[in-house]
Amino acid sequence: MYEIAVIGCGVIGLTSALSIQERLKNVKVTIFTRDKSPNTTGDIAAGYWEPYMVGDTPPAQITRWGKATYDYILKLWKEGKAKEAGISLIISRIISDRKDVENPFWKDVVLGYSNLSREYLDKFGKVGNRKFISGFEFLSFTWEASIFLPFLEQKFLMNGGVIVRKEIRDFKELEDFDVIVNCTGLDAKDLTGDTKLCPLRGQIARVSASWMFYLFLIDSEHDRSCYVIPNIHCVILGGTSQPAYNLEVDEVDKKNIFRNCSELVPALATAEVIKHQVGLRPGRERVRLEIEIKPGGKNGLLRIVHNYGHGGAGITLSIGCAEDCAKLVERALNQTNLRNKL
Ligand SMILES: Cc1cc2nc3c(=O)[nH]c(=O)nc-3n(C[C@H](O)[C@H](O)[C@H](O)COP(=O)(O)OP(=O)(O)OC[C@H]3O[C@@H](n4cnc5c(N)ncnc54)[C@H](O)[C@@H]3O)c2cc1C
Ligand SMILES: *[C@@H]1O[C@H](CO)[C@@H](O)[C@H](O)[C@H]1NC(C)=O
Ligand SMILES: *[C@@H]1O[C@H](CO)[C@@H](O)[C@H](O)[C@H]1NC(C)=O
Ligand SMILES: *[C@@H]1O[C@H](CO)[C@@H](O)[C@H](O)[C@H]1NC(C)=O
Ligand SMILES: *[C@@H]1O[C@H](CO)[C@@H](O)[C@H](O)[C@H]1NC(C)=O
Repeated sequence: MYEIAVIGCGVIGLTSALSIQERLKNVKVTIFTRDKSPNTTGDIAAGYWEPYMVGDTPPAQITRWGKATYDYILKLWKEGKAKEAGISLIISRIISDRKDVENPFWKDVVLGYSNLSREYLDKFGKVGNRKFISGFEFLSFTWEASIFLPFLEQKFLMNGGVIVRKEIRDFKELEDFDVIVNCTGLDAKDLTGDTKLCPLRGQIARVSASWMFYLFLIDSEHDRSCYVIPNIHCVILGGTSQPAYNLEVDEVDKKNIFRNCSELVPALATAEVIKHQVGLRPGRERVRLEIEIKPGGKNGLLRIVHNYGHGGAGITLSIGCAEDCAKLVERALNQTNLRNKL
């Protein structure tokens, strides 16, 4: 029986922990975490499938991880688990006022992809007196972390997993484990760590607008970018992306978000606000998913698998990354003669 420690209980930590349990039968998995849902970054997110703000992570990897996640959610949906897991199937429209927008490289991952017609774009823009040049739609999903994470946590516990509420300050605390999996996201407090990580501050508003049935994202070169993403209990209006650590709700951002969104859907201007929120996306030049071997640990070796830096797409890439993470844990366990390599 191998002992595996996962640090972090956000969407990345939980999906990784579950994948490890499912792939490797002879393991006991323990999650060590400071926070849990509803207090993780994913709980602030819009819970929507679309690769977004992932730095220079290679398109082939984004496509593979994104597809694994999309297919997993589609399977849960087909199995009738939509309510339990907080999943909604929804048509997503991405609309732009830029010229020369190309089809996204991940378009073959999703169902129902097509370009929006000139006529549609003109009608859509008319309300706000806006001119849109291109756009496309596809079938996407939202799966709210506040429902999905407790759903995953139940599965993890049923499989014999253990969750310990504890902030890990020194990896020596976990020396008795065979492999340590690092899913600490931005880990904003640890400024001495990975200098490639930087916060992408996202401010959004959760509003009550049960009449809002469509999802859209506006990509604008005229400073009018915004998104409107319906979840089950609220609609998310967004949102900013700034290289900042400030977790306070900013009044100017608040106004801009409402102005930009209600320009296209006027009734949103007076929608009842449930809460304004700020989250820090774990921005990185690319997702870090790899094995690191350090001196220390049980047999003189500390085997670490890193899985962090998913930027604005941690939910979108979660399942694909978790499956690869489990493979890396297996590989780390199987590696022998590591001492010679150090
Ligand atoms: C406004 C906003 C909207 C977003 N919308 C979307 C979206 O629609 N779709 C999408 O795919 N992505 C979206 N994202 C991005 C997504 O939320 C993140 O990529 C994702 O949540 C990152 O997950 P994570 O598990 O790596 O990090 P986190 O959720 O931050 O989890 C990190 C975990 O590690 C724990 N931890 C950290 N350090 C330690 C330590 N030293 N010891 C113990 N525990 C520790 C924390 O307590 C936490 O449990 C959005 C983000 C924001 C801010
Ligand atoms: C989330 O944070 C709130 C406020 O700090 C706290 O009261 C609550 O216990 C936390 N929930 C969990 C599950 O940790
Ligand atoms: C859809 O739009 C893209 C980008 O504007 C274009 O490159 C592509 O040829 C269009 N596809 C079809 C089928 O019209
Ligand atoms: C785990 O990841 C964080 C970044 O989230 C980094 O600061 C830390 O050094 C990593 N831990 C180890 C043991 O490498
Ligand atoms: C909304 O409009 C402002 C001002 O024009 C702009 O700076 C901003 O990027 C837009 N988007 C959001 C989410 O605030």
